Amino acid sequence: MMTIKPEAYIRSIGKSVVKKVGTRSEKIIDLSLNESSFGASTLALEACQKRCSRLFRYPDPASTDLRNAIGQAFDLDPERIACGNGSEELLDIIGRLYAGRGDEILYSENSFMQFPIVAMRVGAKAVTSHEKNLTTVVDALLEKVSDKTKIVFLANPNNPSGTYVPKNEVKRLRDNLPRSVVLVLDSAYCEYVEASDYSDGLELVEGFENVVVTRTFSKAWGLAALRVGWAYASPSMIGVINRMRGIGNVNAIAQDGAIAALGDPDFVKMVCQRTCEERQWLTSQLIPLGLLPIESATNFLLVEFPAEANHSAGAAIGYLEKFGVAVRDVDDYGLDEYLRITIGLREENQVLIDGLRQFMA
Ligand SMILES: Cc1ncc(COP(=O)(O)O)c(C=O)c1O
Repeated sequence: MMTIKPEAYIRSIGKSVVKKVGTRSEKIIDLSLNESSFGASTLALEACQKRCSRLFRYPDPASTDLRNAIGQAFDLDPERIACGNGSEELLDIIGRLYAGRGDEILYSENSFMQFPIVAMRVGAKAVTSHEKNLTTVVDALLEKVSDKTKIVFLANPNNPSGTYVPKNEVKRLRDNLPRSVVLVLDSAYCEYVEASDYSDGLELVEGFENVVVTRTFSKAWGLAALRVGWAYASPSMIGVINRMRGIGNVNAIAQDGAIAALGDPDFVKMVCQRTCEERQWLTSQLIPLGLLPIESATNFLLVEFPAEANHSAGAAIGYLEKFGVAVRDVDDYGLDEYLRITIGLREENQVLIDGLRQFMA
């Protein structure tokens, strides 16, 4: 079983940043970070610009209007919502609140890399469970629960695989976990999921003091630069998250941009529909080339490359750079034969496919 090394994660983030601000020109087609390729609502952009005339004012430290807007949009009690500087901040706070030295943090083996990072930061042991077909197996997770387990993280759908766990299975996980274990349902990519047996987890929080859902504006809402995430949980858990987070952790432009974005749900629907169409198109183009995408519920594809050195995933990365296309290797997971590719606009996807066709010839 492969355990992700946190140093590798930090290295890979570093790599991306260097590419972005260093060697990359504006013309680079960046399909490496799972950002939305479809931009943000014009309402959000206008709200951000408008807020620039009042930059001398601090943000609302409680993100009150934003929590109210989220509550209204998703029919939730705003008092049970905490906002973060990206959902990443909230995952980190949850880790610091509920786990420490000598404790265990549990997640499925190819889960989001933030989870081992959180474990490392708080000095807890990262414990992983095995997967089937790159998908979380609930029984495998349950088998690894010990009296030291303090947090179970489930990214659903997962990054980097793009696979999801159906609602009934997540419910079974929740119901079989001791109430002393915090279950974190990281639903960063939930907007993209079309399957009817999926749940973003919000309904699974009711009546469970130990369940928290995290969401983000970074993906389908197209506001990655603003860093806005939110958590939904019991009032007591939200209370402690709020005491742990920094004052003004969500800046004023970010709050206003996210509020305005919530007022344009049709934009997100359009983004998800186009993402799904492009994902299908990419899949239809990749398979004849002998490249095998894992079925994804998200805005990215994990694609398996052949083992031969000249057609390998590692060789493809360098080859695609010549076409100005950046994709993400997943060697840190031990998935050396795969690349993770964000769904781009059609013209971007076409450049990717042209490059891969030549690469595979
Ligand atoms: C599964 C998952 N959760 C959370 C995040 C973090 O998102 P945010 O931008 O809200 O910090 C990501 C980002 O890629 C992700 O893939």
